[in-house]
Amino acid sequence: MKKNLFSLHKLDARKISKLISEPIVDVTITSPPYFNLKDYGFNKQIGFGQTYEDYLEDLKLVFKNIYECTKDTGTLWVIIDAYRKVGEVVPLPFDFSNKIKEVGWKLQEIIIWGKDRTVPWAHRGQMRNSFEYILVFSKSTNYKFYIDKIRDFQSLKKWWVKYPERYNPRGKTPEAIWNFDIPTQGSWGNGYIKHFCPLPEEMVAQIIKLTTKEGDVVLDPFSGSGTVLSKADNMKRKYIGTELNSEYIQMFQKYLECTGKDKRREYEAENKVLLKQNEFEKLILELRALKYIKVAFSRLAPNDKILINKIFVKISDRIPQKRNCLITVNYIILINDKNNNIKNSFDELCYKPPLSKFGIEPIFTFTSNLSTFISSLSNGPLFLYTNRITHKFRKIFRLEDINISSKSDIIISNIKIELNEKDFE
Ligand SMILES: C[S@@+](CC[C@H](N)C(=O)[O-])C[C@H]1O[C@@H](n2cnc3c(N)ncnc32)[C@H](O)[C@@H]1O
Repeated sequence: MKKNLFSLHKLDARKISKLISEPIVDVTITSPPYFNLKDYGFNKQIGFGQTYEDYLEDLKLVFKNIYECTKDTGTLWVIIDAYRKVGEVVPLPFDFSNKIKEVGWKLQEIIIWGKDRTVPWAHRGQMRNSFEYILVFSKSTNYKFYIDKIRDFQSLKKWWVKYPERYNPRGKTPEAIWNFDIPTQGSWGNGYIKHFCPLPEEMVAQIIKLTTKEGDVVLDPFSGSGTVLSKADNMKRKYIGTELNSEYIQMFQKYLECTGKDKRREYEAENKVLLKQNEFEKLILELRALKYIKVAFSRLAPNDKILINKIFVKISDRIPQKRNCLITVNYIILINDKNNNIKNSFDELCYKPPLSKFGIEPIFTFTSNLSTFISSLSNGPLFLYTNRITHKFRKIFRLEDINISSKSDIIISNIKIELNEKDFE
């Protein structure tokens, strides 16, 4: 019976084109065998017993074949380290990168993987080795990179409550230094896996999230203990792996059989966090919509300010027309005097920072007719905000409030926000 392509194959990574003949791979994540450092225990292994030049040539061949079976939108992630030979450092990541550039790969990013659990000592004249390189290559400039999927929105400090315009609604953009502990020997795979150098599961999951969607294809030509393949399987991606050491292949299969179901469940539970990310995005945009008008009001000239009676704020379903705008917001403004030039004052303000930085496309409507204004208010509960605080409503708005001319209670909205900065410290 023909073996399923989407599995781990006992095959020399240099012969991957025998396995995959079409460009179907979305991402390759791999850590190549070390140069002449570790004996993985079989003939034809790359690294052990070779010259540096032959080693680089072999890697070039492997990644040339992978280039050919990768989609145009695909990427290659290589975890690799410099090493020391007698008396000097060999810059393997850079030699490697230049080598595979020759077959078409474009280097897009250098990420530093900070590893906490390294050996606590170093030789004389050296720093303690505490990081490795993650090199990111692409075939084209149009590569898949779902950055929103790995934004951090949970550990933001309280400032986003008052400064929503400074935060990306999907969360903080990740930095190019990643900190993940190295799994301790035997810790990975609940004892099923005993391998020299497994990659941290969370780190692999982060790369998979960033570069693929469910159903996409993940490849690891040097699968080792199969961290990349099993993570891909847990996250509902297809996987293809090659490895020459039969022992590792068996370990991986046993691991997947025993843990696959639980790990899938964990993945599904994590998807609920994504829902929270959507809620966070909604909240940031609502905060921005309300703060926008507060800032606009505060920048009006005093003779314009006294003309304003109430402002109704409602986020529109209309997709913004301008680039860099995330939402369209209706601002319906009840003014005391219809013959005035207040519209120009608002227009001028919204083309300049800070308002031009809010990502909001405003639609201003002015009326001095009370019943027109009332009929434009939406049904359902409405909330009253002051012209000083828009992250917490002051009271529920009732129609009779409209007649109370208050200098501060001027913003009405169907958006309900009730945040205390202190809760987010
Ligand atoms: C650095 S380890 C990979 C570790 C893996 N990322 C993990 O998380 O366990 C490199 C692996 O490449 C395998 N290897 C070496 N030469 C190979 C070849 N020519 N084809 C396929 N695999 C090879 C070794 O057996 C070893 O398991």
